[in-house]
Amino acid sequence: AANPIVIAIDGPAASGKGTLSQRIADAFGFAHLDTGVLYRAVGLSVLRAGGDPADNAAAARAARALDPDHPILREVALRTDEAAQAASKVAAVPEVRAALLDFQRRFTQHPPGGAPGSVLDGRDIGTVVCPDASAKLFVTASLEVRAERRLKELRSRGIPAIPSDVLEDMKTRDARDSQRAVAPLRPAVDAFVLDTSALDADEVFARAVDHIGSKTGLRPSA
Ligand code: CDP
Ligand code: CDP
Repeated sequence: AANPIVIAIDGPAASGKGTLSQRIADAFGFAHLDTGVLYRAVGLSVLRAGGDPADNAAAARAARALDPDHPILREVALRTDEAAQAASKVAAVPEVRAALLDFQRRFTQHPPGGAPGSVLDGRDIGTVVCPDASAKLFVTASLEVRAERRLKELRSRGIPAIPSDVLEDMKTRDARDSQRAVAPLRPAVDAFVLDTSALDADEVFARAVDHIGSKTGLRPSA
């Protein structure tokens, strides 16, 4: 049988890649995996065990213990800045990335629910996890726009947030994610780069659909 279709969506924090990925998945009938959740779950489990997310051995152990049924993957606590910071620390550990690579490739090879394809969003989907993806998008926006989006989102989830803290969290993670040695945040050479600073979610969706159509010949079924 033909390989399942994979749509790779990467970008920095709060660029809107998660929202776009879910819409694409719904429109094309694909399964969606927010890969940031995996790193957040690993970071949070290290913190809960009283460990340091920058400790390679502790982070690697937590990553190997993560399976698709782990209840931590559904916790609201994953959305906090604390979990995000811990995530970007464990994300620099090569053993963590290797353990999560298997998790992500299994998802693309056997999309849940028998879906004909999957949409993965993260930092290194187009560059490392799925270099042969059917279509690749790199979603970005200015730092200020992204901090504003994250602030609104946290507040709507009932998570208290201070604007200057959210901006600082974003700056620190942007730097750590783009400067690390393994799988740094950067657009794949064949990615379609979409700056969403001045676009709303509907406009971003429309452009993404056009690009996916041009690469795969597919149109949304919903
Ligand atoms: O939602 P947001 O973009 O703020 O973060 P996320 O996508 O949940 O990712 C949290 C952290 O996990 C990032 O800052 C990265 O350090 C790491 N991550 C990664 O290294 N590779 C991925 N494919 C996804 C996330
Ligand atoms: O997954 P990522 O961290 O990149 O961002 P997100 O959680 O999908 O989006 C952050 C917030 O930006 C959400 O509350 C969206 O409603 C909003 N937003 C968007 O996703 N796309 C736009 N073009 C404008 C706003």
